[in-house]
Amino acid sequence: MTMDVAARRKDACNRFLRRAHAVLDLEGSTPSALHALKLKLTALAARTELFAVSDFPMPLAQGRLHTLVAEADDGLGLHLLIGMPGKMSQPHSHGIWCVNASVSGKERHVLWRRTDDASKPGYATIARTGEVLMEPGHGYAMADLDIHSQEVVGRQPSVILALYGYTFERFTSVVWYQPEFSSVRALPSRRAVAAS
Ligand SMILES: [Fe+2]
Repeated sequence: MTMDVAARRKDACNRFLRRAHAVLDLEGSTPSALHALKLKLTALAARTELFAVSDFPMPLAQGRLHTLVAEADDGLGLHLLIGMPGKMSQPHSHGIWCVNASVSGKERHVLWRRTDDASKPGYATIARTGEVLMEPGHGYAMADLDIHSQEVVGRQPSVILALYGYTFERFTSVVWYQPEFSSVRALPSRRAVAAS
């Protein structure tokens, strides 16, 4: 990796974040704002020379997250996610809005909706509502409690840019669903772990 690419990547990411803030400052994280951010992130992801998989350490196992920009004071988090062929994740929600855009490879994302009233601890039912094939030129937005699952398809690693309302290291609670058992489990907040 040349410094030139790293410097240009940093510049492009910071420029993107300035534009993202301009949208969020005006509208908040409304559906239309997230749609606008998705279009901007998809344009950034199209600059594939800035996000070559050879420039980032590969996953030791199935997937790896690289932080491109983590803003101070609980600001936005821009990350690059690498998923190896065959990697799958169960349905989950992040607790914070998110915008995704594919750089390279193919990843199938299934979107879900919770269908019970959340009154019974540990119990949840969910239903599929849609699917997005994440490949170059494609992206989508998720609201705070939207649920998705992922599967890398094909023989190439999947590289995705993800913008979160706050950085991954500051996630409150990721909630994992197991539809085959009608169960749900919330992971401890990363904030609580960081404070202990
Ligand atoms: Fe996720």
